[in-house]
Amino acid sequence: MGASEVTGPGDEDGVKDIELKDGREVKDGDVPVPVYSMQALWDGKMTVKDFEVTGKEQPTLPHNVFEQDEALPVIDIEALLGTDRIAREANMATMLEAAKSWGFFKIRNHGVPLEVVKKVESNVKKFFTFPMEKKLLVKAENFSFGYIGGSPVTWGYKWWMEGLHMKVKDEAIRNMVNLVFSDDKEFAKEFTKDLTSYFGTMRDLSRLVVECLTEGLGLRPDTFTKLETANAICNARVNHYPRCPDPSKVFGIPGHTDPQLLSILYQDEVGGLQVLRDGKWIGIRPDDSTFVVNLGDTFQVLSNGILHSAVHRVALNTLRSRYATIYFYGIDNTVPLSVPPELVTKDRPLKYRPFTVNEYREYLVHKQLPIDSIKFLEVQPKATESATELAQ
Ligand code: OGA
Ligand code: NI
Repeated sequence: MGASEVTGPGDEDGVKDIELKDGREVKDGDVPVPVYSMQALWDGKMTVKDFEVTGKEQPTLPHNVFEQDEALPVIDIEALLGTDRIAREANMATMLEAAKSWGFFKIRNHGVPLEVVKKVESNVKKFFTFPMEKKLLVKAENFSFGYIGGSPVTWGYKWWMEGLHMKVKDEAIRNMVNLVFSDDKEFAKEFTKDLTSYFGTMRDLSRLVVECLTEGLGLRPDTFTKLETANAICNARVNHYPRCPDPSKVFGIPGHTDPQLLSILYQDEVGGLQVLRDGKWIGIRPDDSTFVVNLGDTFQVLSNGILHSAVHRVALNTLRSRYATIYFYGIDNTVPLSVPPELVTKDRPLKYRPFTVNEYREYLVHKQLPIDSIKFLEVQPKATESATELAQ
């Protein structure tokens, strides 16, 4: 299939293809991300072949197969907040078990009006239809915040997606909005208002889930949330996966875990999110009445491996663009984080070393494959111990 048969970003919305300006520029000494691979494709400078999966993991499960989705636990948030003790305990237990085994669950009765998320989704959809030079006004340097127009050039094959990665800070929102929507003050105002309201509600919801899980671990509920300081990295991203002529050979995003404490995701009705469970990929059925929660590496580490960060990925389809809106809840990125001593026992020795979120982020940017990054944080056997073992 030639690149000319691949249509542009907003084709369903009647928006024309855009010219690539400086998208593929990589500065000296810079980590060579991002490369604006989607735009290069739309410009005919790359072909679908450049996106073909080269590793072991293949996109074998179609985007619309949800056979075992029903097995995924669904937690009632209202019950977690309510006064019915039995209902609360039942939901707490199910959530804790899901966090241990799946690292993935759905939440319902979460109290966030769908409109709050849909507004962010539709505002960012509008952003995606802008000319590339406008999107690049807020381009993400070194995979940080801003526009991500594809995947890093160094990560083997390329991801079939673009995203807007937004920092949860009033000032960051203002700067982004002022840069991109300077000629549309009304829209800028709307965008800021919608985003602020989304960030506020999602942060509260994330805190609640984190605190219930922390309580479930036998710790003070605020053990981790109190580390949500001014240096915390909470962020949100709207991802756009254009339709793809060959979804059996290309991923939206290949299997990975999220680095933060947890992520709360809303996917539109198209389908494509898949989670790995006991070596098997399971398609998550889109559902407007629930959000998907997945635990990230930081939670796995801080729980000394009791909780589980879920490997997940995104499958593509030939017919429709797909959008997902995700809130990533993180804690302080500068202070060393370590496993609470209560979670270290004779039967469960310390599995992860102290680390800072910044250190882990730095590592991830340079990593080739995202799937087993958490190993970087494992306690290494001491040189003397291994020498002794060898001698025995
Ligand atoms: C992510 C992710 C899933 C999706 O951005 O980390 O896993 O459905 N996204 O977009
Ligand atoms: Ni993810």
